[in-house]
Amino acid sequence: MTNARQPRLLSYSDRLSVAPSEPIEFKVSSLIPGEFTAEIVRLQHGDRNPEGPGFREHIIKSVASGQYPARAQDIDPGSFIRVDDPSDRLSLTGAFSLHAFVFPTTAEQPRQVVLGRYALDTETGYALEVGPEGVTLRIGDGTGSSVISTGDPLYGSCWYSVGATYDPQTRIGRVWAESVITSTNSLVASTVPISGPGNSEGTLDRELGVAPTPFLIAAANAGNRFEAHFNGKIERPAVWSRVLTDDEICALRDGSETRTHLVALWDFAADITSTGVTTDRVRDRGPWALHGTCQQGPARGMTGRLWLGVDERFTLVPSEYAAIHFHDDDLEDCGWDTDLTWTVPDDLPSGAYALRITQDDEVDRQPFFVLPPRGSATADVVLVIPTASYLAYANEHLAPGGAFAQSIFGQTPVLGASDLYLHEHPELGLSLYDLHSDGSGVHLSSLRRPIVNLRPDKRTSLGGPWQFPADLHLVDWLTEKGIEFDVVTDLEVHQEGVELLSQYQVVLTGSHPEYITRETLDAWEQYLTQGGRALYLGGNGFYWVTNWHPEKSHVIEVRRGESGIRAWQAQPGELHLQTNGERGGLWRWRGRAPQKLVGVGFATQGFDYSSYFVQTEDAAEPAVAFIVDGIKPDEKIGDFGLEGGGASGFELDRYDLTLGTPPGSRLLATSEGHSDNYPRVSEEVQFTMPHMGATMDYQARGDIVYFPTHNGGAVFSTSSIAWCGSLSHNDYDNNVSRMTENVIRRFLDNTPLSAEGSMPSTRP
Ligand SMILES: [Fe+2]
Repeated sequence: MTNARQPRLLSYSDRLSVAPSEPIEFKVSSLIPGEFTAEIVRLQHGDRNPEGPGFREHIIKSVASGQYPARAQDIDPGSFIRVDDPSDRLSLTGAFSLHAFVFPTTAEQPRQVVLGRYALDTETGYALEVGPEGVTLRIGDGTGSSVISTGDPLYGSCWYSVGATYDPQTRIGRVWAESVITSTNSLVASTVPISGPGNSEGTLDRELGVAPTPFLIAAANAGNRFEAHFNGKIERPAVWSRVLTDDEICALRDGSETRTHLVALWDFAADITSTGVTTDRVRDRGPWALHGTCQQGPARGMTGRLWLGVDERFTLVPSEYAAIHFHDDDLEDCGWDTDLTWTVPDDLPSGAYALRITQDDEVDRQPFFVLPPRGSATADVVLVIPTASYLAYANEHLAPGGAFAQSIFGQTPVLGASDLYLHEHPELGLSLYDLHSDGSGVHLSSLRRPIVNLRPDKRTSLGGPWQFPADLHLVDWLTEKGIEFDVVTDLEVHQEGVELLSQYQVVLTGSHPEYITRETLDAWEQYLTQGGRALYLGGNGFYWVTNWHPEKSHVIEVRRGESGIRAWQAQPGELHLQTNGERGGLWRWRGRAPQKLVGVGFATQGFDYSSYFVQTEDAAEPAVAFIVDGIKPDEKIGDFGLEGGGASGFELDRYDLTLGTPPGSRLLATSEGHSDNYPRVSEEVQFTMPHMGATMDYQARGDIVYFPTHNGGAVFSTSSIAWCGSLSHNDYDNNVSRMTENVIRRFLDNTPLSAEGSMPSTRP
């Protein structure tokens, strides 16, 4: 596994889209001594498949070009809370008590700090920990530590009340763990005994040292890193500056805390608002207002020990969601120092670009998208780059990490060097297709880290490019066809809405705009209602409820619900997004099936090979003659291409009046020839039965659909991720290219696309 050549250059930028006169920062880490060379390149085509046009980039003269000193930069993943304590109230030297409710998810992983002020590198301070010995109180004097433990490991994914007391005069410490399981809050019911409950008292033979580090919840300081991360949920952590009495300890399990000599009590529900919990602050209810700050993006809006299983909207019952879920592999921002900041020149055309860095024989390219000047358009066509979808897939471990990949792909996954690198370097963070180290699904993804599959020439383990490099197929085709276009990203559409889109006559999607925010859907819908014209040139689009973090536009959130093709599923009660409080899952289950917007919606996926489309009788209607102009009625459409060998492949969408395909839509062509590696999507499977693959199920297919909208607008949808991979075939002279060009040219003509000769279709 380690023979493959692995990258020694890594980079990322602080943003993916930037307008002229705005700065973009690049951060580089190099394991090669010396200097690296930086250049700005305009990207045209990334796919190195010898059947296609090959890799195409153009160097842009810029002030950013030059030599820069190389240095290695580190990544320190794992979420935790850091407490601001300017008066050193938590620098305990006398007697104290510690308490929290915990729900450990890797209960037997050694040394997981629940709370404390402890320096791991010098073994100084105090910490309450969870591990193989159960609950442990650790006291360090600067040369080593003494511990007392309950002895029996906690049972994973169950709620406990855990705590410790210590008196430096007597050096007597006490630790305890008590189950607080209810019918709904834990993995198992309270009907059976589980491991973990215990109570120990003893003498700790070291002095209590004062750690020169901050007080932390869910981690401990180790020099310039944070380690000993706790995996799982923590609720109501608290500290007192005395030893609590037996009665007071008893009362803790019911959430009744004495305030006598209370130093701090953090209430994780306090900042839940009607629109989610978006602040990093965690509020201290104690006397000194020792508020904490979340680091590296732990999960909020997670069920706590009081969750009853009745309400699942955390914004309505904050007290039942007073827990934060920490992971040792959360990564929100690598926080690297900036190597170069480049201000985009006023006259740089909108498009796809990259910072290309080279050193020795290593090359890395960090892509970014140059917008037209803010508030203006410089072309009639705009390509909306689906960066939320790029982030959903960022650093995905599906092939090397998922045992199921080979079954889904229908072929042996081919791992590249960057796949192996990811496998061996989990510190680069996870995608929304991965699980955290504790088995919970990843629902937050950030662009502020090296993303090794967000590279123009990256091929996925199933053979072809995916997402960004696949979208360059379209960038290349538009360029070669001389169709002038602007580039914006879905972040701008989310932020600026229909005002942005309505500057354009024609809007294009990429190949797989799967992750969509409510604001973006609204913008598309309003644009089309106003008479906008759209080409949806992908598959499985407009599918998952997604949100950009309102205060951190480098972070997206997705909660995967009870149905849909999904890499994981949210735990009970955890389907609502922390970044806006809204229900996650598929847009279909929020009344916004993709068919309502673009006429088609997700029907099937498969990855063994791609197929082609055949025309239906609708394609012969005069109203759509412009679309098939130059294409014979019996031609197979797209029986060629760089994505699996055909234009219909990977993920396919279907026309379906029962799901909201507009009346008056024309089903121009439908795909055939798929294997049983293309089963129908799970959200449409109510009864399981044999023979659910595409050879038997006529609804497992892709459809090319056209319909006119209000005010002379129209939508053309090709329903397949593989479509754009066929555009360049035969030197761009083919029926996929022709059909796409026919539609764009007609849409660029101002003549209204009224429902010429149209009538509502009743096709099932
Ligand atoms: Fe997808």
